[in-house]
Amino acid sequence: MQFNKKDILDIASLSCEEIAFILDTADKMKEISQRPVKKVPILRGKTVVLFFYEASTRTRSSFDIAAKRLSADSISLAASSSSISKGESLIDTAKNLQAMNADVIVIRHSASGAPHLLASQLKSGIINAGDGTHAHPTQALLDMMTVREKKGRLKGLRIAIIGDIAHSRVARSNIVGFNKMGAEVVLAGPPTMIPSGVESLGAKVFYDIDRAVEGADVVMMLRIQKERQKNFLFSTEREYAKVFGLNKQRLKRAKSDVIVMHPGPVNWGLEISPEFMESPGSVILDQVENGVAVRMALLYLVAGCTRNADTD
Ligand code: CP
Repeated sequence: MQFNKKDILDIASLSCEEIAFILDTADKMKEISQRPVKKVPILRGKTVVLFFYEASTRTRSSFDIAAKRLSADSISLAASSSSISKGESLIDTAKNLQAMNADVIVIRHSASGAPHLLASQLKSGIINAGDGTHAHPTQALLDMMTVREKKGRLKGLRIAIIGDIAHSRVARSNIVGFNKMGAEVVLAGPPTMIPSGVESLGAKVFYDIDRAVEGADVVMMLRIQKERQKNFLFSTEREYAKVFGLNKQRLKRAKSDVIVMHPGPVNWGLEISPEFMESPGSVILDQVENGVAVRMALLYLVAGCTRNADTD
């Protein structure tokens, strides 16, 4: 298949065929990461800028590792240590990075739509590493890769996504992605954390975690995003853990071969019991490993697309 996307902004703008192609490419990239020498020259001479306005461990380091495994040159720019702290705008900053011939700019921003703004004005490829509460497409792709790897398919699976749906760009991207690929998505959380109208994305809503977990093939727990909550949305952490937290007893309602996921960072003991740190059904670190493979695939595909545009 000819992949011709200059930018990866959200899951909604990818077709099922494009998602499957990215996951197939990521499977091949994972094999590279498992070699004794984890480096290939396919992006030699390309420049990747990691431009993060918000904190990150997994996304930023996995993009950096991904770029290095493909022999691209990567530089990392944090808002706090750049001229943004002197008042330079997002778009001016990005245009300066483009002027240095950045082939791909990976951006995380607290404002929904920031990557779309850059994509509309720059020739460099733009990859959304998380924008506000809107989208986190690379996380959804690594989640779909992990589920497909563990279950052999996506179609027909029941995916339960539990917790702070209102503030979760991971949830939004996963609802759209799993739906597109033929899975059933069910949500659960306190009413204060379920946005009205979320069913229109293609998910069924429960306010009782036990009903959502019933018969699930995959249970994905979400982090409580205290930094994005303007008001108190639950009474106490103890009560939240009791009513909406995942524990092994509660998981018995799911299918016997259920897998447990979490995008990280995890608040152990709040949204998920520490007994899942070492549990065989927990695939949280597999998600992290697959994050490198998915990001290698995306850098390769997007850099290839910008290269084609240059030579057209
Ligand atoms: N899952 C995720 O986006 O983690 P980071 O915030 O650490 O990148």
